[in-house]
Amino acid sequence: MIRKCLFPVAGYGTRFLPATKSMPKEMLPIVNKPLVQYGVEEAVEAGLENITFVTGRGKRSIADHFDISYELEHQIAGTAKEEYLTGIRSIIDKVNFSFTRQHEMKGLGHAILTGEPLIGDEAFGVVLADDLCIGGEYDGVMAQMVKLFKQFRCSIVAIQEVPEDEVHKYGVIAGESISDDIFRVTNMVEKPKKEDAPSNLAIIGRYILTPDIFEKIRETPPGANGEVQITDAILRQAQEGCVLAYKFKGRRFDCGSVDGFVEATNYCYENIYKAK
Ligand code: UTP
Repeated sequence: MIRKCLFPVAGYGTRFLPATKSMPKEMLPIVNKPLVQYGVEEAVEAGLENITFVTGRGKRSIADHFDISYELEHQIAGTAKEEYLTGIRSIIDKVNFSFTRQHEMKGLGHAILTGEPLIGDEAFGVVLADDLCIGGEYDGVMAQMVKLFKQFRCSIVAIQEVPEDEVHKYGVIAGESISDDIFRVTNMVEKPKKEDAPSNLAIIGRYILTPDIFEKIRETPPGANGEVQITDAILRQAQEGCVLAYKFKGRRFDCGSVDGFVEATNYCYENIYKAK
C-alpha cells in the first residue's frame, strides 16, 4: 500500500566538515556500512521498494553505492570477501532507485517538494538517513509506522522524548494522547526555545506523508533563513485534517552530530558487527 520512500540527501552536512567537503554525509560509515544503507534497509524491511533520492551537487557516490561495481566484484569473486557485498547486492536486486536533484538547498520542505514528480499522488515514507534508527528486538521504525498507517491512513511523524535543554534542536509537537505511544498532533513548533516548547516530544527523521503535503508545502512561505520547513506544512495538515505522532520502539542516534555519530558507531560495533 505504501510503496515509495523519499530520501532527502541534498544537505551540506556542515557539522561534519572537513569530512563532508567532497563526500556526502550520508556516505559516512557506521563501522563498515554507510549511513544511507542503514536507512534503505529499514525502508525495504517496511516493504518500501521504490526509493527516491533527492540529491545535490557532490552526491554522486550515493548513486554509485546502489549500483553494481563490476570490476570490484570480479576482483573478489570466489574469495571470502564476496560476502561483504551480499547485503548491498540483495538491495540492488530488489529495489527500484530513482534520483532527482535539488538545485538550491532551500530546506527539507523544499527537498520533499522536489521529489513530487517521482512520488506522484500516493502516500510515501521519508527517511532522513542521518537519523540512524535501530529497531533491535522490534520491527524497524518505518515498518512500525507503515503498520500504523494501515490503521489510520493519515500523515505520521516519528517522535522521541528528549531532554528539555535539547528541544531547540528539533520540531516539537503538542498532541492529544490516543494511546501510550500515539498522539493526535494539535501543534508543532520548529526549534523552540526551552520556555516556548509545547512538550519534550521531538520529531525525528521518519515520516509517512499523504500526497496533499505537496500542496501544503507550496502554500508554505519560506522562513526567516529562506528555508521551507516541512514542519509548517505538516502542521497545516494537522489543522485541516489529522496527523499522528508516534513514539517509536527502538533506538535512534543523531548521526548528523559528531557525538551521536560516535555513539552509533560504538553501539553498532558492539551489538551488530561483533555480535555477528
Ligand atoms: P540537516 O539540516 O540535518 O542536514 O537536514 P544538513 O544541512 O546536511 O546538515 P548540517 O546541519 O549542515 O550539518 C536534514 C536532512 O534534510 C536534508 C539533509 O540532507 C538531511 O538529510 N536536506 C536539508 C535536503 O535534502 N535539502 C535541504 O535543503 C536541507
